[in-house]
Amino acid sequence: MRILVTGATGTVGRHVTDQLLTAGAEVRALTRNPETAALPSTVELHRGDLDSPTAEMFEGVDRMYLLAIGEPTLVTDLAKQAGVQRIVTLTSAAEDETYQATERAVENSGLEWTHVRPGMFAANLLDWAEDIKTTKVVKEPYPNARQTPIHEQDIAAVAATALLFDGHNGQTYTLSGPESLTKKEQAEAIGDAIGLQIGFQELTADEWRATSGVPDFVADWLLDIWHQATENPEPVLSTVEDVLGRPARTVREWAADHVGDFR
Ligand SMILES: NC(=O)c1ccc[n+]([C@@H]2O[C@H](COP(=O)([O-])OP(=O)(O)OC[C@H]3O[C@@H](n4cnc5c(N)ncnc54)[C@H](OP(=O)(O)O)[C@@H]3O)[C@@H](O)[C@H]2O)c1
Repeated sequence: MRILVTGATGTVGRHVTDQLLTAGAEVRALTRNPETAALPSTVELHRGDLDSPTAEMFEGVDRMYLLAIGEPTLVTDLAKQAGVQRIVTLTSAAEDETYQATERAVENSGLEWTHVRPGMFAANLLDWAEDIKTTKVVKEPYPNARQTPIHEQDIAAVAATALLFDGHNGQTYTLSGPESLTKKEQAEAIGDAIGLQIGFQELTADEWRATSGVPDFVADWLLDIWHQATENPEPVLSTVEDVLGRPARTVREWAADHVGDFR
C-alpha cells in the first residue's frame, strides 16, 4: 500500500512517516524542498506544493495524510481521479474556516475519510526552550491557563492507525493530552523531566507582547487562547486511549523525549 504523506517534514508528519514505514507501508512524502527534507532513505520524496497540486503527486497512491493547506477541493478532485481511496486529515480542535474547508472537501469527495483534530501540541512548549536554557524561568502571562498538551507522537499514532486499519471511516477524532495542567504546572513538569527546577514569572499581556517577538495577530490569538483557558480549562478527552488502546503520553513523558532541546 502506498500512502502519500503531506507535511512529512513537519512535527507530526515525521512521526506519521516513521510509523507507516514501521508498519510496512510505502511512503511518498510531499515536500517543497526534497534537498532539506532529511527523511528516511526508504521514503519516496516527491517535490510539490499543495498550493499548486498536480496529478503526478497522487499517481499510484492508495491513501493520503492531508494537512489543511492550499485549495482542498482541487486536492481531493485530483486525488480521487488518481484512485486514492482514503484521506486522513490533520486539522484542529480549534474552529477555523481553513480547517473546516479541508474537512468539507474531503467529506464531499466521496472517499473514505477520518478527521484528526488535535488541541494544543506539547511541541509548542519548545517556545520556552530558550528561556529555560538561559534563565530557568518561563516568562509569560496567564500562568493559570489550564491546557491539555498532546504529544506529537500520539497525534501521529492516531493518524497512522486511521490510515492503516479499517473501522475509522467517517470518524472525527478530537484529541487532547491525558492531563489538564496550568502553564505553571507545565513548566514544572518539564523541570521534573530534565532534572532542573523551572520557575514561572508572570508577565502582563503588554510586557509579553513587547518581548515575545511574535507578530501582533499571533500575539492576539495566543492571548485569547490563554485567557479562554484560564476561564474555561481545556477538557481532557479519552480519544487517544480509545483509538490506540493505551493512554496518551504526559507532558513529563514528552519533555523526557525532548531533554536535549531544554538543556
Ligand atoms: N501547534 C498546535 O498546537 C496545533 C494544534 C492543532 C492543529 N495544528 C495544525 O497542525 C498543522 C501543522 O502540522 P505539523 O506541526 O506537523 O507541521 P509543521 O511542523 O508546522 O510543518 C509544516 C509542514 O507543512 C508543509 N507545508 C507547508 N506549506 C506547504 C505547501 N504549500 N505545500 C505542501 N506542504 C507544505 C511543510 O513541508 P515542506 O516545508 O517540507 O514543504 C511541513 O512539513 C497545521 O495545520 C496547524 O495549524 C497545530
